[in-house]
Amino acid sequence: MCGIVGYIGKAQAPKVLINGLRRLEYRGYDSAGLAVMDGNQLAVAKAPGKVAALKDRAHAEWPEERFSRASTGIAHTRWATHGPPTEVNAHPHLDQSGDIALVHNGIIENYRALRARLESKGHQFLSETDTEVLAHLIGECNKGDLFQAVCDALHQVEGTFGIAVLSAREPGRIITARRGSPIVIGVGDGETIIASDASAIVAHTQRVIYLDDNDIAIVTAESVDIRDLNNVPVTREIAELGMDASAAEKGGYDHFMLKEIHEQPDSLGNAIRGRLDLNLGTSVLAGMGTSARELADLNRVVIVGCGTSLHAGLVGEYAFEDLADVNAEVQQAAEFRYRNPIVGSRDLVVAISQSGETADTLAAVREAKQKGAFVMSLCNVVGSTIARETGRGVYLHAGPEISVASTKAFTCQVAVLLMMALKIGRGRRFSRDEGLKLARDIEAIPTLVAKVLEQDERIATIAATYVNNEHAFFIGRGPMYPVALEGALKLKEISYIHAEGYHAAELKHGPIALLVEGTPVVALACDIPGKDKVLGNIEECRARGARILGIITEGDHEAAECMDDFIEVPACHPLVATVPAVVALQLFSYHVARLRGCEIDQPRNLAKSVTVE
Ligand code: M6R
Repeated sequence: MCGIVGYIGKAQAPKVLINGLRRLEYRGYDSAGLAVMDGNQLAVAKAPGKVAALKDRAHAEWPEERFSRASTGIAHTRWATHGPPTEVNAHPHLDQSGDIALVHNGIIENYRALRARLESKGHQFLSETDTEVLAHLIGECNKGDLFQAVCDALHQVEGTFGIAVLSAREPGRIITARRGSPIVIGVGDGETIIASDASAIVAHTQRVIYLDDNDIAIVTAESVDIRDLNNVPVTREIAELGMDASAAEKGGYDHFMLKEIHEQPDSLGNAIRGRLDLNLGTSVLAGMGTSARELADLNRVVIVGCGTSLHAGLVGEYAFEDLADVNAEVQQAAEFRYRNPIVGSRDLVVAISQSGETADTLAAVREAKQKGAFVMSLCNVVGSTIARETGRGVYLHAGPEISVASTKAFTCQVAVLLMMALKIGRGRRFSRDEGLKLARDIEAIPTLVAKVLEQDERIATIAATYVNNEHAFFIGRGPMYPVALEGALKLKEISYIHAEGYHAAELKHGPIALLVEGTPVVALACDIPGKDKVLGNIEECRARGARILGIITEGDHEAAECMDDFIEVPACHPLVATVPAVVALQLFSYHVARLRGCEIDQPRNLAKSVTVE
């Protein structure tokens, strides 16, 4: 949720930290703060609101020399959990002595008990946060060795943490540790950067170390010494990021969301390239690590995820049943571990997560492993916790997704799920020719998406008609039902229009009562099985005065006549059609939100990576 940056090296730490926070701002953006070593003293600046406000605050309050001489510091951008997004609740938090500063991602679950204990010893707290309690606990444990104090404190906490700690008494080092909340360490030339995700590091170095849970590192400008919480040294490999710094820039677009929507022909190309075998009519997904026999013997596929990833999973459910001839079901990751799921060794549990850090999805992975299921993941972020804990799966290769509203990750998730279904289906039911045909349909996805993107301006014009509505419905059938859910999620999260996705047949079982003259109904009416029934459902809505925006197949005049407005997508395989259809809805939502003047990349109350339950 929140973002952490730490820096120790030769450069001006405040500048590096603020630039790093900017790159992490998509993770949380309701307040921010930084602490730097200025000589032997800690200097702290905090501000509610965005990183720009923090920068202004630091420049207003700090002497100019501090910016040039401070070369060590830690910083944080927050998504509030404990206490509102005020200056006092912003990180870093200090211990009782004021000598130790801490930034923290995650949640200290036993903070109330720890706070009461510390208060009984005379500690006074300024904020409502769990993080300040940890800062005081570290101070309480500190007998002159910060590393040992952090170990001792972390032994006492329950919950999750990714932390960076700085002490005025030990200015040449930063201590960082993780449990359940990611920490990446960038190993530069005479400088070391700590961050909660690699986008804050990529401008400095490609060489990174991912901490594992319960790792704690002593970081200096020249070294990274990693141990466990019992002070036993551990070895972690240095990995190459393989990320281009420009991937985290807007590249001339007004918003990351628009850039990422337009990147989709490329991101889909990267997700698909080299993974289709046009000789054997199958897909090559080595990361699945499954034998043909295991796939042929599969009893069931259970897909878990949250939000947009859950919607991709719902498309996957249709794909596995239809193409791979295997029972499939989707479960909300947040429910999975609490409902005592029935999964075993012949069940494949597929965890879908762009970030690879979503707490509920991670918990579902752990539960599925406990039950002995065959677990794999579809993640975008390489080296993320879910990717590492599942140990097998398929990376999306969508490139960094910065916009809080997920777009290119969704389409790559669907493309990868189709390839998985093809692979499993080829072993269970498809002939070579059938497999080949589907492989070609999947291969065409980037071109299909490019054709939708060509209509950007037209979609913007259509969007203008829907800007002043406060409610909207999205309907679809079959694999277009999850597309309706995703379309509604996209519109509501960035435009704040109340939007609901329904199965087209469900509308008349209740929600139709809400339709009045002019209520927008966005209908997924592509020419796939079930289209005629969707057209019937559209007539039911029109009869009640709804304004219909249809997503239809190019050249389908019959469908076009039922609509007030329509966006055409190219004719293709019914499951493949979910991808261009959703891209049309992404653009529609984007333009509605833009015309309403919304903060598209950082919508109200949201954060990119949801690492709390
Ligand atoms: O990183 P994940 O895919 O696990 O994230 C899941 C959801 O939090 C995410 O898709 C969320 O719903 C987005 N805001 C949707 O645009």
